[in-house]
Amino acid sequence: MSEQKRCGIIGLGRYIPTKVLTNKELEKMVDTTDEWIVTRTGIKERRIARSDEATSDMAAEAARAALKDANLTANDIDLIIVATITPDMFFPATACLVQDKLGCRTVPAFDISVACSGFIYGIAIADQFIRSGTYKHALVIAAEKLSSVTDWSDRSTCVLFGDGAGAAVLGPVKDGGILSVSLGANGKQGDLIKLPAGGSRIPPTVKSIEDKLHFIKMNGSELFKHAVRIMADAALGATQQLGLKADDIKLVIPHQANIRILKAVAKRMGLTEDKIYLNIEKYGNMSAASSAVALVEAVQEGRIKKGDKLLLDAFGGGLTWGAMVIEWSR
Ligand SMILES: CC(C)(COP(=O)(O)OP(=O)(O)OC[C@H]1O[C@@H](n2cnc3c(N)ncnc32)[C@H](O)[C@@H]1OP(=O)(O)O)[C@@H](O)C(=O)NCCC(=O)NCCS
Repeated sequence: MSEQKRCGIIGLGRYIPTKVLTNKELEKMVDTTDEWIVTRTGIKERRIARSDEATSDMAAEAARAALKDANLTANDIDLIIVATITPDMFFPATACLVQDKLGCRTVPAFDISVACSGFIYGIAIADQFIRSGTYKHALVIAAEKLSSVTDWSDRSTCVLFGDGAGAAVLGPVKDGGILSVSLGANGKQGDLIKLPAGGSRIPPTVKSIEDKLHFIKMNGSELFKHAVRIMADAALGATQQLGLKADDIKLVIPHQANIRILKAVAKRMGLTEDKIYLNIEKYGNMSAASSAVALVEAVQEGRIKKGDKLLLDAFGGGLTWGAMVIEWSR
C-alpha cells in the first residue's frame, strides 16, 4: 500500500510597501489619538501601497521571494491560489495576473474570497491537491490593498487596516507538514463586516459612491466578541483532532486584527501571551495577508524550528474562520 503523502510549506516570502502611515499622521486626518489607537488595538503604524501598485503587484513580489526561498522557479509551480478581498479587478482573477507576472506555465490559477481567513483556506485547498498527488508544487498567496477600500474619513475603521502580501510554496515533505485543518463559516453574521457596493446587489452608481458604499463597513464591538470565541474554538478544533494540548504548540501565528482579541484568545486557550506571535504594531490588519506575513516573519526571526508545531488561526468577514496545525519540516 502506498504511504499517505504529506504536504508542507517549503518556501516563504513577503512584500511590504515602503510607505509607512503612523498614528501621529492619522491624528491629522481624523479625530483620533496615537494613545487611543495603541491602547485599543495595539497598532502603531501600517503600510500603504503606492497608487500605481495593485494587489497582484504585491502578490507577485511575495511569490518571487517564496520561490527563491524554496529554491524553485516559476516553471515548477502547478497551482496558484490568491486569497484576497481586494483583487485588482473582478476578473480576471488576481491569481491569473500573478501567473502572467511570474511567467508560470498555464497552470490552474484562481482567487478565494474569505477575507482574513484566506491564507489558511488557501493552504487547506492546496494541501488536498498535493497530498492526492494531483499537483507537486502550489503557490498560496495572501495579498491585500485594503487602503483602496478604506474610508479615510471614518476613524472607526481607517486606523485599523494596512497593505501587504505574504506567500507560501507548498510541496511534498517527508516529515511533518500540515497535520490538521479546521475551517468554518457563518453567513448569518455577514453583515458585521462588509463592502456593500460594487457587486451585483448594488452596482456602482453616483449615489453608491456618494453614500460611501464602496468602503469597508464594520460593527467593531460585535465582531470583537465573536472573534475571541471563534478563534479559540477554531484553535481547539485543529489541536483536538491530533490529541494535542495547547502546551504542545510552540507558537500560535494568528490573524492580527487587535492585540486585545489576541490576548483574550491566549487566555481562553490557557496559553501565555509569549506563545502568540505579534507584529500588529507594525502593520495593522492586512486581512488575509496578516497571518501570512506573520508566519514569514516568525520563521525569519527564528521563532520556529524544524519539528516545532505551530498553529495558524484566523477569523474574518463572512464570517469565516480557520485554524491549522503545521509541524515545521525545514
Ligand atoms: C474596532 C475596535 C478597535 C474598536 O474598539 P472598541 O473598544 O470596541 O471601541 P468602540 O467601537 O466600542 O468605540 C468606543 C468609543 O471609541 C470611539 N472611537 C472609535 N474609533 C476611534 C478612534 N480611531 N479614535 C478615537 N476614538 C474612537 C467610538 O466612537 C466610541 O465612542 P463613544 O463611546 O463616544 O461612542 C474593536 O472593536 C475591534 O478591534 N473589533 C474587531 C475588529 C475586527 O476583528 N475586524 C475584522 C475582522 S478581521
